[in-house]
Amino acid sequence: MMMPRLASSSGGLPSAVRWSQLLLEDRLRPGDVVVDATLGNGHDTLFLCRQVLPGGHVYGFDVQAAAVENAGRRLLEAGVAASDFSLFQAGHETMPIRLPGALRERLAAVMFNLGYLPGSDKQCITQTETTMVALKQAVEWVRPGGLVTVAVYPGHEGGAEEAVRIAEWAGTLDARAFEVQHLRPVNRTAAPPECWVIWKRGN
Ligand SMILES: C[S@@+](CC[C@H](N)C(=O)[O-])C[C@H]1O[C@@H](n2cnc3c(N)ncnc32)[C@H](O)[C@@H]1O
Repeated sequence: MMMPRLASSSGGLPSAVRWSQLLLEDRLRPGDVVVDATLGNGHDTLFLCRQVLPGGHVYGFDVQAAAVENAGRRLLEAGVAASDFSLFQAGHETMPIRLPGALRERLAAVMFNLGYLPGSDKQCITQTETTMVALKQAVEWVRPGGLVTVAVYPGHEGGAEEAVRIAEWAGTLDARAFEVQHLRPVNRTAAPPECWVIWKRGN
């Protein structure tokens, strides 16, 4: 049977990350400049490269050296030129001091995949305070028509608080400037991953 395009890998409805990817896939174009705010193992970084190259650029952030190394290796092994991406071992909350100022309000998207590095010891998870700083910066730095996507894991340690704070903040975004959607399973007792999508009104 043919797999539906809007499906998770098991054939069910899209996961939080898959929702993010589907919306990004639909809107990103070669030449766009984007940010992967949480590099991890670089799967999302490679996904972003495939949307914006040739001609675009992918910036990436992670606080862990191993994540920056793994993501960089993944891109090079996939044939992405080193000049097409810039990875920082730094928190996403430092975005305004790491990115060229000319990119302010020019980014086509900022993608967040919160929580911990898969396969790691789960010691290094995103922290609510720095996540909130970075999210507020991201909505400022995307261009009109740009997207901020966030996969959040309320079932992870610290993730429940992060999910609540994101929901409180997202609900306060001015509806004249942003459209905000929240995609999540609602009939499971465990706390499944959730996707937030923020679209900056404009072209
Ligand atoms: C769920 S993983 C990301 C998965 C990744 N996008 C992938 O495709 O494999 C979350 C990552 O966020 C990183 N992280 C934690 N705090 C951070 C911060 N302040 N800024 C950037 N990354 C951070 C962790 O080190 C971890 O690698």
